[in-house]
Amino acid sequence: MKQLITHVRLVDASTDSPGALLIENGRIAKIYYNETNPHLEGVAIIDGGGHVLMPGFIDTHCHLRDPGLTYKEDMESGMKAALKGGFTTLVAMANTAPVVDNADKLKANLDKAKALDLCTLVQNSALTENFSKDRLVDFESTRKYTQAYSNDGLNIDDTDTMAKGLAASTTYDFILATHCEPETATVQRDIELLKEKGGHLHVCHISKKATLDAIVKAKKEGLDITCEVTPHHLYASGVDYKVHPPFRSEEDRLALIQGCADGTIDCCGTDHAPHSHEDKAKGSPGINNFETAFAMYHKVFSDHSIPLTRLSEMMSATPAKRYGLQGGLLAEGSVADLVLVDPQAEFIVEPNTFVSKSNNTPFAGEHLQGRVLWTMKGGAIRYDYGQTL
Ligand code: DOR
Ligand code: ZN
Repeated sequence: MKQLITHVRLVDASTDSPGALLIENGRIAKIYYNETNPHLEGVAIIDGGGHVLMPGFIDTHCHLRDPGLTYKEDMESGMKAALKGGFTTLVAMANTAPVVDNADKLKANLDKAKALDLCTLVQNSALTENFSKDRLVDFESTRKYTQAYSNDGLNIDDTDTMAKGLAASTTYDFILATHCEPETATVQRDIELLKEKGGHLHVCHISKKATLDAIVKAKKEGLDITCEVTPHHLYASGVDYKVHPPFRSEEDRLALIQGCADGTIDCCGTDHAPHSHEDKAKGSPGINNFETAFAMYHKVFSDHSIPLTRLSEMMSATPAKRYGLQGGLLAEGSVADLVLVDPQAEFIVEPNTFVSKSNNTPFAGEHLQGRVLWTMKGGAIRYDYGQTL
C-alpha cells in the first residue's frame, strides 16, 4: 500500500521545507521538497492541511509503571497517552514492582509491548538487582534485551558500583542513564569516573545551571556524556509541586533554555511519572507529561526563538542516535514513525481529559500552543484528532 501525505511543512533536525512524503510498506519511500501535491497514481492521499510533519518523538525517559504499579498507569494506557503526545518510541524506566532487573522481566515487558503494537519500547534494565547498593545485574543475559540501564528514581550512591557500571557500559556497549541526587556533585563524581574508566553516560533530567556547566566541560574533554531535560524544568521555575529533581530557580531554568538553544543539552525527555491522587497526597514525586510535553517544549522554544528543527533534533534525532534506534529523521528508507502537529493551535490543559490513567500535574488550566493532530507508527495512523485507533 502506498500513502502520500500532501500539503505539509516537513521539519526534522536539518529540514524545514514545504513538501509531501510518500510511504510504502511502512517506510518513507520518497520525500518531495518544495512540492506539496505531487501527482501520483494509485496512492491513498492523507492531506496534511498545511501542518507540520515531523519524525515521531522518542522519549528518553518515562515511567510506564508496568508491571506491578498498574493502578497508576500500565503499558497500554501509557502508550496510548504517549501516542496522543506524538511519541512513537519510549525508553521506560525500571522502577516498577518488581524492579526490572533480569532477562525474564525485560523479555516479559518487550513481549507485552509487541502484543500491544502501539509504541516501540526500549525497556531499561536496572543497573543493580532490585536497586541494591552494589549487586550489579547480569549484563551478559540482560544485554540481549536492552541497550539501556538505569536505577532511575534513585541515586547510585556507591562510587565503586558506579565505576563498575560505567566500565560495563563499555564492555557490553550500553547507555547507563543516571538519576543524580545531589545533582551537581553526583554528576561531577561520575565525570571523574568517566575519565578513569570510560563508559557511555546519559544524565537524566538535569535541572541546574551548575550541572550543565559540568557536562559542557566534560564534553569538551571528549567524554561520552549526554543529558536530557524535562518539559517542566524548562517551562516553569519555583513551582510548589513535588517532583525529583525539584523545580529550580529562574536562573537555572534560563540556563537550561540556553543549553537547548546552543546545542549543549542533547535530548528532550518527558520523565512522564504518573501517580494516583492518593500517592501524590502521600508525597510521591512526579508529573504526568506525555500529553502536554510537546506543547510545553514548543511554547518555551518559540518564546525563546529556538527553531522547530532544534526541537525535532532533541525530541527525535539525538534520542535515536544515542539509543541506536530507527527513525529520528525524515529520510527515505526510514521507518514511517511520524507526527503531524499544528504549532499554532492553542489549548488549555485539562487533566480530566488525559488518556493516561493518572492526571497528576500542576499545570491544569495552563494555556499552551502546539497540538498533536495525528501520530503514525510504521505507516499506520494510531492516534487521530482525539482518538486512539
Ligand atoms: O519525579 C520523579 N518521579 N522523579 C523520578 O526520578 C522518579 C519518578 C517516579 O518514578 O515517579
Ligand atoms: Zn529520575
